[in-house]
Amino acid sequence: MYNENLITEENIEMINENFIEDEQLKIDISETVGDIHVEDPRIIAKNVNVFYGEKIAINNVSIDIGKNEVLAMIGPSGCGKSTFLRCLNRMNDTIESCKVQGEIYLDNKNILEKKTDVVPLRARVGMVFQKPNPFPKSIYDNVAYGPKIHGLAKNKTELDEIVFNSLERAGLLAEVKDRLNSPGTSLSGGQQQRLCIARTIAVSPEVILMDEPCSALDPIATAKVEQLIYELKENFTIVIVTHAMQQAARVSQRTAYFHLGNLVEVGATEKIFTTPQHKLTESYITGRFG
Ligand SMILES: Nc1ncnc2c1ncn2[C@@H]1O[C@H](COP(=O)(O)OP(=O)(O)OP(=O)(O)O)[C@@H](O)[C@H]1O
Ligand SMILES: [Mg+2]
Repeated sequence: MYNENLITEENIEMINENFIEDEQLKIDISETVGDIHVEDPRIIAKNVNVFYGEKIAINNVSIDIGKNEVLAMIGPSGCGKSTFLRCLNRMNDTIESCKVQGEIYLDNKNILEKKTDVVPLRARVGMVFQKPNPFPKSIYDNVAYGPKIHGLAKNKTELDEIVFNSLERAGLLAEVKDRLNSPGTSLSGGQQQRLCIARTIAVSPEVILMDEPCSALDPIATAKVEQLIYELKENFTIVIVTHAMQQAARVSQRTAYFHLGNLVEVGATEKIFTTPQHKLTESYITGRFG
């Protein structure tokens, strides 16, 4: 049977062996340093554990995510960023071996409760993936699909309005307005990613989850998506996983640093990047490992 204390000790041993030559690191990573709470939370995660089979991937993570906030999640490959992100709209349900424990409140309702209907949940908490994945449909239908299945438009005029508005807000309308019937897949990579963002915002989510949304994009397309993220925070809560430290610094107000399934440190982005409190955070942001 799985033993939490044992695994945590193993984790720390692993860090000591693999990453840090520094004598000072007899550090406990099971307690998060920084401010896990915010004044006006949209999401409150409490004591979240995630297992793949017997293996623990997220260890007792608690964090608030504020309204109108971009939270960046950073950390070395395999530290659990995607796993934690997927908890926030129950996407881990699709992985058979995966078990999630704890509580995650979205506006006072614990979404981890069995009775939660994940279809409306995933409309409220939308997701943009690493690789743009437009449906094999026209540009128009990619965006219209969600509002249609969720019954958000009474007629074609309303549907048109949602589609145009979403494309506009995703910064794509000017580039596609003359070719709305072309396949979504005929767009460039950066355009496809903005199409996927338009598709996500078309159902008026409260939260948008983004897992390395720019990693397949060139610098110009990346700049456009970053600008968009910056603007979207006026209306949405955004959680973005990124490997690009500068991207985290540019787009987010808060940053969370994960290590071996633990949330090591969280706080104002500026503070995390200039005066991190935890030795591991400092090592990571100064490029000593990752
Ligand atoms: N479907 C799965 N089945 C079993 N183990 C998994 C699965 N997905 C992830 N894991 C394991 O869980 C841990 C966390 O993985 P996760 O993908 O969340 O990390 P990550 O921080 O997103 O990494 P990366 O930066 O490489 O995307 C890793 O040890 C990984 O091997
Ligand atoms: Mg990942």
